[in-house]
Amino acid sequence: MEVLKSRKILQDFIERQREMGKRIGFAPTMGALHDGHLSLYKEARKDNDLVISSIFVNPTQFNNQDDLAKYPRDVDRDLHILKNSGLVDAVYIPEVSDIYPEQAKSKNYDFGGLENEMEGKSRPGHFDGVGTVVEELFKQVKPDYAYFGEKDFQQLAIIKKMVEMQNLPVKIIGVPTHRADNGLALSSRNQRLSETRRDASKVIFETLTKVKTWFKEDSYSVIKDKVKDVFDDQQNMQLEYFLIAEEKTLKEAEFFYNDRKYRAFIVVIVDGVRLIDNLPM
Ligand code: PAJ
Repeated sequence: MEVLKSRKILQDFIERQREMGKRIGFAPTMGALHDGHLSLYKEARKDNDLVISSIFVNPTQFNNQDDLAKYPRDVDRDLHILKNSGLVDAVYIPEVSDIYPEQAKSKNYDFGGLENEMEGKSRPGHFDGVGTVVEELFKQVKPDYAYFGEKDFQQLAIIKKMVEMQNLPVKIIGVPTHRADNGLALSSRNQRLSETRRDASKVIFETLTKVKTWFKEDSYSVIKDKVKDVFDDQQNMQLEYFLIAEEKTLKEAEFFYNDRKYRAFIVVIVDGVRLIDNLPM
């Protein structure tokens, strides 16, 4: 596996691969790798000659400096995981100046309104930061296909929208959420939970699964009450939001139409750790 530690080294590498006519699949990450990330590489292996990942803790997508400082960083551990997986041909580990040559600052995007829903409300500026870094990584890595997890469904939708609006020459593939045996969506944040809390957090996926059944039987307001009741009964857990939105607009649904796709979205704070999940209805 090639470890590419600067923009220049990456550029030379990409040029050689392009000359050989290799099809490139790309999955960007912020490190702290787990099996959820590996599921992106597995998907990428199917469609491409070459799989490239990146590890870059992007300063512009954090709303607060404390969160950025606390983000887990262990490149040696990540490299070990990548090498052992045998799924990745090259990993790009840029410096901040390789991505932001002048100032680490976000562009202002219009994602057709997707940026104003859910996470956009709780994390102002977050998606501008994500768009800025992903657009720059696409420019540098020049992938044919790029892979993003459904775990961050709004991020996936926003990247698809950016590619469509700017006509970028890359195809975006969404990969289903990889879960622990108890159903908890894998996330680097899970490391911050005790084993007991990780186990208790399975209630998040259990509830989403129930919502899928309730969705067929109950009105939306009844479903919302039932979800609220579940979390009122949990110790050390606060429901930040639960809603069902149309997949295309991410707007909270008022009515459910048979010919549209809906998804339930949830954020729960467990012992101060913000856990996010979603499930198609
Ligand atoms: P990060 O949180 O490291 O996630 C990298 C990719 O892995 C994202 O596409 C995310 O949706 C996916 N992922 C995380 N957990 C997953 C799981 N349990 N199952 C499937 N996929 C999962 O998301 C980011 O980094 C950043 O915002 C980034 C896109 C790299 C831009 O900085």
